[in-house]
Amino acid sequence: MTVDFPTREVREGRASLLVPDVPYDRGPGRRTLLPFYNPTMAVARDLTILVMAAALPKGAAVLDGLAATGVLGIRAALETGRELAMTWNDKLPAAHGLIVENAQRNGVAGEVLQDDLRLVLSRRYFHFVDVDPFGTAVPFVDAAFQQSGRGSVLAFTATDTAPLAGTYPRTCWRRYGARSLRTPCGAETALRIFLGYLVRVAASHDRGVRPLLAFAAEHFLKAWIVVDARASVADAALAQLGYVRFEGARFDAWPSPPEGPYAGPLWLGPLADPAILTAIAPQPDTSHAAARLLERIREGAALPPFFYENHAMAQTLGVDPVPISAWIEALRAAGFRATRTQFTANGVRTEAPWPEVVRTYRDLQQRTP
Ligand SMILES: C[S@@+](CC[C@H](N)C(=O)[O-])C[C@H]1O[C@@H](n2cnc3c(N)ncnc32)[C@H](O)[C@@H]1O
Repeated sequence: MTVDFPTREVREGRASLLVPDVPYDRGPGRRTLLPFYNPTMAVARDLTILVMAAALPKGAAVLDGLAATGVLGIRAALETGRELAMTWNDKLPAAHGLIVENAQRNGVAGEVLQDDLRLVLSRRYFHFVDVDPFGTAVPFVDAAFQQSGRGSVLAFTATDTAPLAGTYPRTCWRRYGARSLRTPCGAETALRIFLGYLVRVAASHDRGVRPLLAFAAEHFLKAWIVVDARASVADAALAQLGYVRFEGARFDAWPSPPEGPYAGPLWLGPLADPAILTAIAPQPDTSHAAARLLERIREGAALPPFFYENHAMAQTLGVDPVPISAWIEALRAAGFRATRTQFTANGVRTEAPWPEVVRTYRDLQQRTP
């Protein structure tokens, strides 16, 4: 099959790709009849490559399930060094020809399917499946868990951050069976609702899951999770779900729905697996943005969920915002672990209890000229 639409060449990681020559709008992208290529998502692909290299055995069967131009699978074949058995799939006829062309350009072998992803997942087993849809991943989650086994790694993207972060709570309830809420920690709340949903769907298949890595950036969320096909692990994962209530900048986690407005159920466990954080390190093909994000995730990984957002703190206490780095230093000097957060440049993640958070903030306020 030939490519019968205008293309241009782009380079990403070690891959040289032909992509449709159409104007690019920043943002989540829309359904079109041409395969979609979004340079903003390179950060997610960079991290996917690192997770694959660390978590997959040599020769693992990998499905780039919603492949579009084939960029992820091609980069995985070129950059992971795992001799992966690659399959690409996209139901769009124009994507099929482009993936074949791009794989050949890069000297990468594999199988290219043109089917509904749910049908592919109903027939075949893959060690790693990437699900990178327009909007919500919900239509594919059930099928992905159904085909998964112990040690499978699944990667899900969601670009429907508005429902998950509280802009459209009714849509969130309908889609994810969870209450969303506008909070000073919007991106983290969204990510944790999404993870909580994955845990619950996995548990309905008697599978337990835990995040290898999860993050939110720009207009999307991404989670890489590892599956364990034991009901006891599913129960243990469910035990890490809960609810969160905010009052201004202050938040409390609850095991059951609290009084007043809350978000949840959501995942209250870690957003990164310590072993994967030890195993992965940025490579020469990793973008600066992905390396920095990884560093932020690493810094905050051992700390409790959620963070204190500087403007929300100032508003809650009726004072001016303080310099973030000085506040982190003050919390550390008081004997508490404190770091920046992956979710915003203007937030602090800490184990300090609320009275200490307030005390250090007010002290700093008095010292700031
Ligand atoms: C956001 S794009 C994927 C981008 C790509 N993963 C990347 O990294 O550049 C989503 C793709 O999913 C495909 N798609 C949507 N629904 C599908 C389905 N049910 N089965 C297979 N492909 C589907 C679309 O044709 C589109 O190419």
